[in-house]
Amino acid sequence: MLSPKSVLITGCNRGIGLEFVKQFLRLAKPPKFLFACCRNPGAATDLNTIAESNPSVNVVELDVTKQETIEKAKSHVASIVEGEGLNLLINNSGIVNRQGIEDVTREEMRSCFEVNAIGPLMMAQAFLPLLRQAASHHSADPMSCNKAAIINISTGVASISENSSGGRYPYRSSKAALNMITTNLCLNLKADGILCTAVHPGWVKTEMGGPNALIGTEESLKGMMSVLEKLQGEECSGKFYHGVRGDLIGW
Ligand SMILES: NC(=O)c1ccc[n+]([C@@H]2O[C@H](COP(=O)([O-])OP(=O)(O)OC[C@H]3O[C@@H](n4cnc5c(N)ncnc54)[C@H](OP(=O)(O)O)[C@@H]3O)[C@@H](O)[C@H]2O)c1
Repeated sequence: MLSPKSVLITGCNRGIGLEFVKQFLRLAKPPKFLFACCRNPGAATDLNTIAESNPSVNVVELDVTKQETIEKAKSHVASIVEGEGLNLLINNSGIVNRQGIEDVTREEMRSCFEVNAIGPLMMAQAFLPLLRQAASHHSADPMSCNKAAIINISTGVASISENSSGGRYPYRSSKAALNMITTNLCLNLKADGILCTAVHPGWVKTEMGGPNALIGTEESLKGMMSVLEKLQGEECSGKFYHGVRGDLIGW
């Protein structure tokens, strides 16, 4: 059963992140602490409405490109979990840029790498002590999202082996970098008992996915939550899952 005691998700004010919050609250055993991060809590109307009726939801200001907000969020989380650590970090924030070879710019490459690759890496680094703390409380258990895990929300178009159309330089390459960060974290955090894996949410109707996308956020999350539940054991770490189909995507 998926039942992490504490979960932190980035980019929760809309889209897939907001739906993650809703689905975690619907679990048979919802998290005791659900840290729902966003850049501008004052403007996160839907998220604030959820938080008002769910005391476990803690809305936290966090911009993955601003290190000081990451550090502040980490201190805040540490003060609330009181020695229990953080079980699950979901790096969901992302930006898309579909520029091709003719119009791609240095600036757009940089901003996609900042949000999609460097941000999640810095999040993993900052929250590592809390993830280690959580893992140490379940040291005899196999790796899982209930114990200690980092889930990086990637995309199918980051797959190098399945790239058949080119283009979208900033988005594809920054998420491919995130995939490499995922496999690296898997290797480096194995001894700590921390699982790290990448998940593609499908083509989802959000601001990023657009109105022509194949599925809504609920369907995407139904799939991803069931993938998260099935991540049990070391062999599930360092993989690239299709969150809707549940199978693996080639790197
Ligand atoms: N939708 C799809 O079809 C699809 C497909 C494959 C992968 N994905 C991935 O799924 C994840 C969620 O996407 P989505 O469809 O929900 O996109 P979305 O609706 O555009 O939402 C993106 C979220 O990321 C946040 N964000 C952007 N820059 C940030 C930063 N610097 N720091 C913190 N948060 C930041 C946004 O906050 P603001 O409101 O403040 O901008 C927003 O909450 C992304 O990683 C995306 O690459 C989506």
